[in-house]
Amino acid sequence: MASSFGAAQVLVASNRGPVSYEVREDGSLHAKRGGGGLVSGLSAIGPDAGALWVCSALSDGDREAVRRGVGEDGVRMLDVPADVHADAYNGIANSVLWFVHHMLYQTPLEPVFDAEFRRQWASYEAYNRAFAEALAEEAAEGAVAIVQDYHLTLVPGMLRELRPDLRIGHFSHTPWAPLDYFRLLPDDIAEQVLRGMLGADRLGFLTRRWADAFTACCDAVVGGLGGTEIGVHGLGADGDFLRKRSHEADVEERMAELREQIGEGRRTIVRVDRTELSKNIVRGLLAYRELLAGRPEWRERVVHVAFAYPSRQDLAVYREYTAEVERVANAVNEEFGTPGWTPVVLNLKDDFARSLAAYRLADVALVNPVRDGMNLVAKEVPVVSDTGCALVLSREAGAYEELGEDAVVVNPYDVVGTADALHAALGLPAGDRAERSKRLAAAGTALPPARWFLEQLEALRG
Ligand code: G6P
Repeated sequence: MASSFGAAQVLVASNRGPVSYEVREDGSLHAKRGGGGLVSGLSAIGPDAGALWVCSALSDGDREAVRRGVGEDGVRMLDVPADVHADAYNGIANSVLWFVHHMLYQTPLEPVFDAEFRRQWASYEAYNRAFAEALAEEAAEGAVAIVQDYHLTLVPGMLRELRPDLRIGHFSHTPWAPLDYFRLLPDDIAEQVLRGMLGADRLGFLTRRWADAFTACCDAVVGGLGGTEIGVHGLGADGDFLRKRSHEADVEERMAELREQIGEGRRTIVRVDRTELSKNIVRGLLAYRELLAGRPEWRERVVHVAFAYPSRQDLAVYREYTAEVERVANAVNEEFGTPGWTPVVLNLKDDFARSLAAYRLADVALVNPVRDGMNLVAKEVPVVSDTGCALVLSREAGAYEELGEDAVVVNPYDVVGTADALHAALGLPAGDRAERSKRLAAAGTALPPARWFLEQLEALRG
């Protein structure tokens, strides 16, 4: 039996892997780094000889890479049939589980768990099974496997059956829904999700709040946690990397371009997000509008730099949200703009160097999600900002637990309150702002990605 085991001592499984491929016009494959908090956290594992990262092929380019046998050392990409992946990823993970944990449903009409949902759920099961089987095949005897996020909730239970010798962990990068909201899911599905996760030896969450919500769901739905341990690991920003990267030439170039757009002597309010419903970009723009309407002294003296990078565009609701972000930003510019001043600089094209340039120029960072597992932007901007920035932070972001004391805290639904917070943040005396920013940076880098991962590994190895 032992001879059929693979060689990996440490395995990570996630939907999105560290790289994604694009087929160029000349037929060559071009590798691109993936986005989002999960990839930032896990990239720190590095090419450790005994570690294997199992992820999914997401694009046509990825599938082509699998077919051609192209890949990176230490990464195995699974080529799950495209329609099964679409049902699992778009249908279940991003339209159901993401919506439940971020409480995004418009409940008078949604959700509707119909036959189509059941069909998609079968794909989600097949998709999870493909991961469990790949992990079972690749893991050395007694190895540690850490499964990531809501895409793969069933994997721990499936893997436990295939390989009882493994130490299995699961980490949630999202919030966990409160019991009443979690119970929107059909009872059998709610139970399957929890039992799937409880197949792990240990479950990790970003904050105590999400861990407690999970425990409450288990108590009510499946009668407790069984023998599964719960851990809280608040993923932080990678301070060393950010400080170095943000002083490279391409960032300096983008800073010059941005300075030009902002104009001499103006304050800068910065936000950088995926265009994601939970990030609350539209209310952020409305709050900025309210600031300009209610406190005319800021007109011509401030610019809102908003980078909103398209995300999950296969889903109509995301496409519509992106369009709404653009519509509201344009409306603010039309209402208040003058020949020498564009109040909102909105950019939808993903550019990491330009994001870092905006971080460096930030006087105020606006992070106002309706709900967020952590939010690394809140932790990153204070590290990078040249003069130290004030942070306007939603109390519904996981980062609030660590940064709340030095941030200007908002209820993300309260547009007038958020406008007041922006005003207060813009008006913080320079000394106070710099002190707060220093403390925010220290708290935000307390658990850098590599340590975050090692902590979990050590806890699992016991
Ligand atoms: C969140 C999730 C990650 C996901 C990321 C980007 O951070 O927790 O699992 O990878 O968003 O979303 P995407 O759908 O583009 O992978």
